[in-house]
Amino acid sequence: MSHSKSRPRRLRRSEKLRDLVAETSFSVERLIMPYFVEEGERVKAEIESMPGQYRFSIDMLLRELEELESFSVRHILLFGIPNKKDERASQAYDERGIVQRAVREIKKNFPNLTVITDVCLCEYMSHGHCGVTRGTEILNDETLPLLAQTAVSHAKAGADLVAPSDMMDGRVRAIRVALDESGFTQIPILSYAAKYASSFYSPFRDAAQSAPIFGDRKSYQMDIRNSDEALREVKLDLEEGADLIMVKPALPCLDVIRRVKDTFHVPVFAYQVSGEYAMLKAASEKGCINERDAVLEVMSSIFRSGAQAVITYYAKELASWLREDAGRFKLATKRVYPTSSSVSF
Ligand code: PBG
Repeated sequence: MSHSKSRPRRLRRSEKLRDLVAETSFSVERLIMPYFVEEGERVKAEIESMPGQYRFSIDMLLRELEELESFSVRHILLFGIPNKKDERASQAYDERGIVQRAVREIKKNFPNLTVITDVCLCEYMSHGHCGVTRGTEILNDETLPLLAQTAVSHAKAGADLVAPSDMMDGRVRAIRVALDESGFTQIPILSYAAKYASSFYSPFRDAAQSAPIFGDRKSYQMDIRNSDEALREVKLDLEEGADLIMVKPALPCLDVIRRVKDTFHVPVFAYQVSGEYAMLKAASEKGCINERDAVLEVMSSIFRSGAQAVITYYAKELASWLREDAGRFKLATKRVYPTSSSVSF
């Protein structure tokens, strides 16, 4: 018989023990659910590449949010799909724009929901790029005032946080100054600081009809081969006034999430993007993986890497699984942390 002092398997012997020593857990209050809102009435159109995800008109989105609230999901991220696109993205900062109207309605009906708005121009530009263009060039400084105006219009409509995702240099400062000058000193900026050029955004671009009609986004979004560069981006955004940092996409960037968290000690959010969702759905539908197990594994790994919160199209489904499986979930992730008196599963 060997008397080994160290036997890691001792702590894996039972589910109770595994749960007791699990290093990672997450709860519904750390999840953010993204939504696409468009013009019209009674619209709930499924996005082909993202089964279970829809484009909603405002009336239908309000109904959806009732269900979301019943699952105790408390935070949403909103994207607008306008009727008209042009070369100045004028619908992006129109006070009567789709996002602005949606935010007003949502805050009126669901005052307790955290509403985060995506601040970007690509859905509103006829060419689909995130900035003003000249020829095939994406102009940086010319884009900043439009982004700032967009953020202020969201804050005026009642957004709780604004999240710039355009990757123009200097946009956090431009937005911070504009918000402050308009009296919105209390509105935090969640900066997509490390946003990589990724093929995993494709389903989103189908949903939002925002694929660029020429070129790609590699002159402004980051190169996936770099992580020192992510730290530089984060440093700049924090200096410019970002309150929260986002890393995106999530699964290809777990190392980046960890490095950012360890370096800056600020809350890091991760975005599990449309293609990550589509991939999990497609593999599950084909019977290649067990959906719940796979999703929980991925979510656990994102939280383990250091994410404070995760934006995920699975938020509602996860919340429903957590509730259904209360008390008999087989993974450590069933644990509610931090313990919340208002949410009990
Ligand atoms: C807007 C924006 C995009 C996403 C979030 N904000 C698309 C892009 O950069 O092309 C992608 C989100 C997802 O894929 O779920 N710039």
